[in-house]
Formats: sequence, C-alpha cells, structure tokens
Amino acid sequence: MDRRGFVTTGMAAGLAGVTGAGSALAPLLSPRNGLGRGRTSVNDAIRLSSNENPLGLSPAAREAVIESLVNANRYPFSFSGPLYEALTEHLGVKRENVTLGAGSTEILRMAVHAWSGPAVPLVVAEPTFEDVLDYQSPLSYDLIKVPLTPDHAHDLARMRQTVHDMGNRPSVIYLCNPNNPTGTLTPSAEVDAWIEDAPETVMFLVDEAYYEYADHPDYWSAIRWIEDKPNVIVARTFSKIYGMAGLRLGYAVAHPSAIRRLDDFVCQNNPNIPANAAATASLKDAGLIERSVAVNAESKEIVHTTLDELGLEYLPSETNFIMHRVNGELSTYRDRMAERGLLVGRDFPPMMDWNRLSFGTPAEMDQWASAIKDFRGKGWI
Ligand SMILES: Cc1ncc(COP(=O)(O)O)c(C=O)c1O
Repeated sequence: MDRRGFVTTGMAAGLAGVTGAGSALAPLLSPRNGLGRGRTSVNDAIRLSSNENPLGLSPAAREAVIESLVNANRYPFSFSGPLYEALTEHLGVKRENVTLGAGSTEILRMAVHAWSGPAVPLVVAEPTFEDVLDYQSPLSYDLIKVPLTPDHAHDLARMRQTVHDMGNRPSVIYLCNPNNPTGTLTPSAEVDAWIEDAPETVMFLVDEAYYEYADHPDYWSAIRWIEDKPNVIVARTFSKIYGMAGLRLGYAVAHPSAIRRLDDFVCQNNPNIPANAAATASLKDAGLIERSVAVNAESKEIVHTTLDELGLEYLPSETNFIMHRVNGELSTYRDRMAERGLLVGRDFPPMMDWNRLSFGTPAEMDQWASAIKDFRGKGWI
C-alpha cells in the first residue's frame, strides 16, 4: 500500500469494523475470550468490550504519526512543546496546570503513589474503574469501597461521612465521572459541594476519561477547581474520544503544586514521539470530537432500540458504552457472543447479571443487535 493509502485507510477500516487478521495479539486473546469457530484472533472479532473508539485515528493524526517517525531515534523530551501548547489552549489552562502520562492510567498510578501512606483512606465507589484499585494494592492504603446509589451515582453522602468519621485525615477520594463500568453520572453540583467544603488534606482524584461523550445539564468538569484547590486532580485521556488507545496518552489537570507532586512519580520520557504528534494533530482536527460523538450517538440509538424491543433493562449512558441486563449466566452470554465474533464486556462484580457493552460503529451494533435478537429467538436471553 502506498503512503497516502496507509494514511487514509485507517478511518475506513475502523468504520467497517475490520482490522487485519493474523495479528501478534492472537495468542493473547483467543482462548481466554472464548473466540469461537474459525476465529483465531481478536482482530477477527468485533471488539465491543474495551470502550475503544471504533473510528480509529483521525486521518490528520495518522499523517502526523508518519511524519513524526523521522525523529523516532530521538528521546521525546524536546518534542512535547507543541502538544503542551495545543492542550493548554484547548483547556484554557496554563502550562504549569498540566502533566502528561502514558495514558490516563499513568496519571492515576502517579496520583495513587504520590498521596499514599500508612493507612491513608482511599475511598472508591463499587463498582468503578479498576486501575486505581490495582495500583493501590501493593501500597499501605486503607481501601474503602462505597456501593453506588440505587441510581448508580457515587454515594457522595456516604463517602463524605466515611471521611468525616475518620477525622478528615489525609485521604484520597477517587471519583470516576462518568463512572466506568456503569456509564452513569454523579451530579457535578454534588461533587462541587464536597470539594468546596473539604479540607485540603482530602485529595480528590477525578477521572474524566469519558468527559467528551457526556451531554447532560447536571454534568461539568472538575477542572473549574484547579485554580483554588490544590487537592483536586482531573485525569483525562486521548484513548477514547480521540481514538488513540494504542498510542498511550493521557494527562492531568491540576493546581501547579499538585502537578509538581505528580511529576515526582512520572516515568521519564513520556509521552513517546508518535503519541505526541497524534495528539497535537487531533487537537487541531476541528470536527474530530463531533464525529466521534455523532457515531457514538447513532450506535447508542441502535442499542437502545434493540434493548427496548427485547425488554432488557439498561442504565442511562453518558459514555461510549452501556450496562444492560442479561437474563441467564453472564459468561454464557459472552461466550455465545464470542462464537458470533463479538467480544462483549467482562465481569464487573457485584453487577453479575449486567453486561457492559462498548459502542462500535453502527454497522457493528447492527451485528450485535441481530445476534442478541437471535438469542432471544432461541430462548437464551
Ligand atoms: C474510567 C477510565 N479511566 C482511565 C482509563 C485508562 O485509559 P487510558 O490509560 O487508555 O487513558 C480507562 C480506560 O478504559 C477508563 O475507563
């Protein structure tokens, strides 16, 4: 394929839901994910399980990645300038309010390490995104899980009470908003009320990985606090709306003192040169966010219609995935979908009769819809 073809086919490949077969990922995924008959790798399957962006990199970002490779023999530290410039302009913040990581997961890890200490309470929702739980496990935190409310929001009242009962001593609060795996919002006014009242010993780590997908009057970013509150860190990512999960780029937005503390824990020479280039180009690609949001909305509509038709309950999603009920054994449902070449969800205890379905392209969601309707016909769901 010529260079132009390579640059421009990514989007089309993503739209068709097709990636090349015979990938090096095959051994990683085929047995454990139960990929079925004749399907030998994850690249043969339709991936509706990792909340990825099915559109792939924008053509502008692909072009920038290729251009950037001329510097692949160089260390990246002197190549981040344009990205910082574009990002701070996009966010309306200063350079000292931002730091970069290899995905927002690195930001989460940096924060978990930076504010750890013997028996420091780490208060999280249950269920929520697991990386923070993984990162704290070798440390000496006092992990406190607070179940979501019946509306699947963070139970801020209970979280607050827990911290208060411990004398407001240094603690870390992880708020994933919108929450993964439920896709639901915690009203920002309630988050604000706690941040406003809390002493600065209470550190808020607000994960906004799906911020750009959310469209609800009760939701806004916690970035508004970073001027005044050194105890608020917002983690964001290029993996989702910008379709860059494979390139690994995330960032933190916070008060300069919190950024300096985070930077003590950064892995040197992040981000890599292609990730830098792709992110800078993506930020300048007017319409990229709107395209991702529009395709996501169309796919969500297909899923809503299908689940309504089947009478399967689902949670309101403000993200690029949705939690829906499954009748019968969850793992059997997933195995049957995998047999049809569709990777859907994984376990999110305690929600063991719900499946988290990521939105692919509308064409991919049509295939999912046809499979699940078929299952209904067979009495499986
Ligand atoms: C809520 C949340 N935070 C953070 C991440 C990590 O994303 P990344 O490291 O790709 O930026 C994810 C990935 O799925 C996520 O769902």
